[in-house]
Amino acid sequence: MSKRKAPQETLNEGITDFLIELANYERNVNRAVHKYNAYRKAAASISKYPNKIKSGTEAKKLDGVGKTIAEKIDEFLTTGKLRKIEKIRGDETSSSINFLTRVTGIGPAAARKFFEDGVKTLEDLKNIEHKLNHHQQIGLKYFEDFEKRIPRVEMQKMEVHILKELDVVDPVYIGTICGSYRRGAESSGDIDILLTHPDYTSETEKQPKLLHAVVEHLESIGFITETLSKGDTKYMGVCQMQLKDDPEATEEYPHRRIDIRIIPKDQYFCGVLYFTGSDVFNKHMRTHALDMGFTLNEYTIRPLGVTGMAGEPLLVDSEKDIFDYIQWKYREPKDRIE
Ligand code: TTP
Ligand code: MG
Repeated sequence: MSKRKAPQETLNEGITDFLIELANYERNVNRAVHKYNAYRKAAASISKYPNKIKSGTEAKKLDGVGKTIAEKIDEFLTTGKLRKIEKIRGDETSSSINFLTRVTGIGPAAARKFFEDGVKTLEDLKNIEHKLNHHQQIGLKYFEDFEKRIPRVEMQKMEVHILKELDVVDPVYIGTICGSYRRGAESSGDIDILLTHPDYTSETEKQPKLLHAVVEHLESIGFITETLSKGDTKYMGVCQMQLKDDPEATEEYPHRRIDIRIIPKDQYFCGVLYFTGSDVFNKHMRTHALDMGFTLNEYTIRPLGVTGMAGEPLLVDSEKDIFDYIQWKYREPKDRIE
């Protein structure tokens, strides 16, 4: 997953920007996940709204925008700023903790601990580099690169490259680049790849080799440059588009965060749906599924019995099958914002 959530550009960017900033503050500094989710949900609704918002009352009609957020919107529209944000930015604890969580490998708890130990800046982190774990060291090493969004053209080049190399490992793999890229975003925070292979289903044993073979091949051709973690089904690492693979390139590409997961064939579409997101859309869809008597997660969709017990996973052959089960009109990835 990517660390920074840059909102899509919209008419109401000023508002969605401050809502995302508040969301991150709630998650990173206060560890208030519910508030984080509430702000993100409001931001997602507003970013989809086709008009320029003129008042809190107007915004309040949108899903996820309540009284408190409407008041903040009014304050922002009237004064051009928000006192709460000014206060957060001016507060050393908040701004330092918020900053530290931008390093991949440093979550809210670690950030607070570093802060309490007097570690507040990139310089401070460099001075205690030996105390960082491997993931955090890589996060520090590539801090500037990881802050950069990945332009869609570069994502497209990486997609072509990765799928071509996947074919070299074994042509029966299926791979999908999910995340914001699949939703058509103009830029992405990271690369989220899902893989499956006909030899791997939920009935078979786990097959870490199927994942590792792909990772090792991508390493051998110089595309993957660092590993953050390598599990049986999930790989997290760093990659870089090589100049030799892009004759048009004029300068070196930045290093990018890449996550690769291998998913059993029968669970592939639940996985693709989940990792295409957005996270706000996923929550919305899961809630609707529950209303319709189904439990949906990144692996399966299962009917809920009268006692609330989940039954056997339903057969899924496409993303559309999942929408059909819960009687929802199919939505293209680009429309899965909220
Ligand atoms: P991310 O890579 O974090 O999100 P993204 O690809 O949508 O955005 P970005 O351009 O910043 O990378 O996660 C990938 C998908 O995984 C996300 O779209 C939906 C799903 N997801 C959740 O549903 N809940 C979560 O908490 C996270 C982290 C991800
Ligand atoms: Mg992503």
